[in-house]
Amino acid sequence: MEVCTLAVGNTQVKNNVFLAPMAGYTDYSLRKLQLEMGAGLTFTELVSAKGLMYGGAGSKELLYSGEEIKDTAAQIFGADAFFLRAACESEYLKDFKIVDINMGCPVPKVFKNGEGSALLTDIKKAENIIKECVKSGKIITVKIRTGQKKGDDVATDFAMMSENAGASLITVHGRVREDYYSGEPDFNAIERAKRAVKIPVIANGGIFTEEDAINMIERTGADGVMLARGAIANPFLVSKLTKTPINITLKDYMLKHIKLFSKRVEDKRAAMEFRKFVPYYFKGMTGVKELKLALLKAENTAEIIELLSKNL
Ligand SMILES: Cc1cc2nc3c(=O)[nH]c(=O)nc-3n(C[C@H](O)[C@H](O)[C@H](O)COP(=O)(O)O)c2cc1C
Repeated sequence: MEVCTLAVGNTQVKNNVFLAPMAGYTDYSLRKLQLEMGAGLTFTELVSAKGLMYGGAGSKELLYSGEEIKDTAAQIFGADAFFLRAACESEYLKDFKIVDINMGCPVPKVFKNGEGSALLTDIKKAENIIKECVKSGKIITVKIRTGQKKGDDVATDFAMMSENAGASLITVHGRVREDYYSGEPDFNAIERAKRAVKIPVIANGGIFTEEDAINMIERTGADGVMLARGAIANPFLVSKLTKTPINITLKDYMLKHIKLFSKRVEDKRAAMEFRKFVPYYFKGMTGVKELKLALLKAENTAEIIELLSKNL
């Protein structure tokens, strides 16, 4: 695939290989690591616009982006245009140039509130949300799925509506809500959406290898790819795609990850956060069963650092 800079509204992003928003995973630590691997743009995990406006400390923490804020988009979700626009205009998002609106989250708690993927059932409401957020002066991007159930394809209509409403980029996760995260992405739906608009269309879903990324671009003609679980399971995938020279082993990467966590949060929590990544990092590795088990039980970061340092 051709890796190139991308104009998004009135800004340029470094390249067209993005790291997806992933709740519980793409905190500052992972975003920083993947920017070092060459990602063109990263996203915070979804943050409730209402939660933010009611001053939730947790929401603010999710937005922390350090100096990397220039290569980070804030992703917000909600059903109420008033709150979404207010979030865009708030102090919390002041330093983010790009704000992404989540229209794909399948989680029942979100869906039942008319948020996330529920917006795909109400194009007028979604349009109003985008128009209101655009008035904030932020560069607004949108992340959608292709619909609710097998056979749906709302991607083209949503891409056209988003462009007309003033959005500067759309990411299409080529799966429907009932797919959650499994199954082959609907390449045709992404391709149709791409052909229908002039704003960049980013393709997402099921990219775990370089070949998957090449195949995605070939089959959809999309302007770029967004990597999600593939970037967690294979920390070097972004660097391979972007041809970013790196001089770091998986062991060093893991050590860096745990140290970044421990700088940001209380020690026990840093250990817990790191433990979530263990199944991904050790997948397919042989002879590490005991180390994996020990890491999954580790209660503090010193223990994790020692285990990794001595056993890898
Ligand atoms: C654990 C997890 C958390 C996610 N959280 C978000 C989120 O906060 N916002 C969002 O737009 N998508 C979220 N997603 C969806 C991903 O961004 C992506 O669209 C999806 O995983 C498909 O890509 P993949 O098949 O390459 O993993 C999440 C996915 C996973 C697995």
